[in-house]
Amino acid sequence: MCGIVGAVAERNITAILVEGLKRLEYRGYDSAGVAVYTNDKTLERMRRVGKVSELEAALAAQPLVGRLGIAHTRWATHGAPNERNAHPHFSGDIAVVHNGIIENHEVLRERLKAKGYVFTSDTDTEVIAHLLTEKLKAQPDLTIALKATVKELHGAYGLAVINAQQPDRLVAARSGSPLVIGLGLGENFLASDQLALRQVTDRFMYLEEGDIAEIRRDNVQIWDVSGQAVERQIVQYSDGAEAADKGEFRHYMLKEIHEQPTVVQRTLEGRLSQNQVLVQAFGPQAAELFAKVRNVQIVACGTSYHAGMVARYWLEELAGIPCQVEVASEFRYRKVVVQPDTLFVSISQSGETADTLAALRNAKELGFLGSLAICNVGISSLVRESDLTLLTQAGREIGVASTKAFTTQLVGLLLLTLSLGQVRGTLGEGVEATLVEELRRLPTRLGEALAMDSTVEKIAELFAEKNHTLFLGRGAQFPVAMEGALKLKEISYIHAEAYPAGELKHGPLALVDNDMPVVTVAPNNELLEKLKSNLQEVRARGGELIVFADEKAGMTNGEGTHVVQMPHIHDILSPILYTIPLQLLSYYVAVLKGTDVDQPRNLAKSVTVE
Ligand code: G6P
Repeated sequence: MCGIVGAVAERNITAILVEGLKRLEYRGYDSAGVAVYTNDKTLERMRRVGKVSELEAALAAQPLVGRLGIAHTRWATHGAPNERNAHPHFSGDIAVVHNGIIENHEVLRERLKAKGYVFTSDTDTEVIAHLLTEKLKAQPDLTIALKATVKELHGAYGLAVINAQQPDRLVAARSGSPLVIGLGLGENFLASDQLALRQVTDRFMYLEEGDIAEIRRDNVQIWDVSGQAVERQIVQYSDGAEAADKGEFRHYMLKEIHEQPTVVQRTLEGRLSQNQVLVQAFGPQAAELFAKVRNVQIVACGTSYHAGMVARYWLEELAGIPCQVEVASEFRYRKVVVQPDTLFVSISQSGETADTLAALRNAKELGFLGSLAICNVGISSLVRESDLTLLTQAGREIGVASTKAFTTQLVGLLLLTLSLGQVRGTLGEGVEATLVEELRRLPTRLGEALAMDSTVEKIAELFAEKNHTLFLGRGAQFPVAMEGALKLKEISYIHAEAYPAGELKHGPLALVDNDMPVVTVAPNNELLEKLKSNLQEVRARGGELIVFADEKAGMTNGEGTHVVQMPHIHDILSPILYTIPLQLLSYYVAVLKGTDVDQPRNLAKSVTVE
C-alpha cells in the first residue's frame, strides 16, 4: 500500500528518495512521485503511473537535484491511478504526500473551493495541501500551521510536507498510518516503514499516534497528541538479517515458501520445554490472564483471518474453549455482544492493517478480558497497543501473497491453544506432550513437503488454460482450502472458491464440468471416507481432481484424478503441512500465466487504509 519517504540533507537526496520507494515497492502501489526543493530554489515534482523504475527513468532524463524532498508510492483510493492523482500534491509553495484516507475531504474541498482554491486531482490528499496553505496565511510557521491543519482532518493519515518558503525542514504528522524518522549524521529522513531507510541509517525513532514532527538536518522535534514536546526512544538495528535479496530463487514468494522450515523452527525456539509450551512466551502476565479465559474472539484480515479460522478448530477441539473468528472490517462496525471472560486475539503479519487495528481499539471499549496480538512485526502498532504479544519469527515477507507469515501464525496459534489448555487444565491426557513432540518434528515434515516442488510444478500445468477452480477441505482443512483459493486468486488471477467438501452438493456441484479443476486436501483423518465420497461426486460430473493426500490414505491416481502423496503427519498439525503444496501450486500456476508474482495487480502488502 502507499509508501512515504522524505529527506533533509546536505547532499542531493533524489536518489535516496527513489531507492526508498523501491524498498517499499513490495507493499503494492500503482503510481509513484517525488517532489524536491531544488538547488535553484524552486519546488518541482515528477510523477509517473506504474513502477518506480518508470519514475527513475524520467528522473534520469530530467534530473531533480536538491537537499530537501518527499516521495510517495500511491495505491489508489480516491481517484483513478493516473499521473494527476499521484502524489506529491501541490498547493502554492507546499508539497504533501499522504498515506491513509481523509474522511471529511468532501466538506473541506467545498469550503476550500469557495475560498478560490483550484483542485487539480480527485484525491482526498489535495485538500490537505490547500488547507495548509490557508492555515499558513494566519500562521506562517509551517510546523504550527500543520498542527492547526490536522485538527480539522478526520480519518487516517501519515503525512509528510515540505514548503519552499521554509526549506530548512520537513514536517510530518501521524494518525492511523505509521511513520518513522531515520536519524543520520547531519541529515535526517522520514518514511512509512524503516525498511525504506536502511540504506542510509540504522537509527530510528517511531512516531506515535497523534505525533507531529519537525525534522531538520541537525535536529528533530516531536509533539504528542496533546501538543506537549516529547522525546521518542531511538531504536538501533545492528543485524543484517533483513537483507532483501532473492538468492537462488526466481521470486521472493518462492524464496519465502522455501524458508518455512527455518522460520517455523525460529517461531518455536525458546517457547517449548521438554514436553510443554512455555506460557510466559506470551508475556509475564500471560499465565494469570489465561487462567481466566473462558472464550476467545479472533479478529484478522486476509490470510491472517484464515489462520484464525484454523485456530478455532484447535481451540474448541483441544482446549475446549469456545472461539469466534471474524474479519476485522466487519467486527469493527458491528454491535458485538461480548461474553464474559473473552480474550481478544488479533492476528496480523504487519501489525498495521487498518481494520485490524481499529477492531483492537474498539475492543478496548467493549469489555474484553484482555488483548493478545499474534504478529510478525515487533515494533508495530498492534503489538504496542495489545496487552500480550506472541511474535512470529517469519522475518521480512516481501511477496504480497502471504506464505511464511501464515504458517508461523498457525504455529503461534497452536502454542496459544496448548497454553490456554495447559493453564486451564482442559487438555486431554498426554495431548500437550504429544503435540510438543510433533511441533519439534514439524520443520522436517515441512522440508519433505517442499521436496515435492517439482511434482506440484507439473500439476500446475493442468491450470494454465483454466478460468475457475474449486478448493475443498473438511474440518480444519476447510480454512486451508480457503487459503489455497485466496493464493490462486491473488497471484494467478484465476477465479477460485473454497467450500467445505460437504457443502458441494448444496450448490457448487452445479459448476463442476471438465473445465473446472477441483483441488482437495485429504489428510488421513476420520473425515477421509466422507471426503472420498465427495470426490466421487465431482468425478461423476467429469470434474478433474487434484488431491493432496496422506501417504497412508490409500488414494491413488486414476482417470481424471491426480493424487500427490503427502508425508504422514499428526492430524492436528496437518493444516500447516497441507498449506505448502497449495502455496507451490498457486506459485507455479502464476509463473505459467506470466503474472507479476511478487506484486500482483491491485493488491497491497500492508493495507493501512479501510
Ligand atoms: C493484505 C495482504 C494479505 C494479508 C492481509 C492482512 O491484504 O495482501 O496478504 O493477509 O493484508 O494483513 P496483515 O498484515 O494484517 O496480516
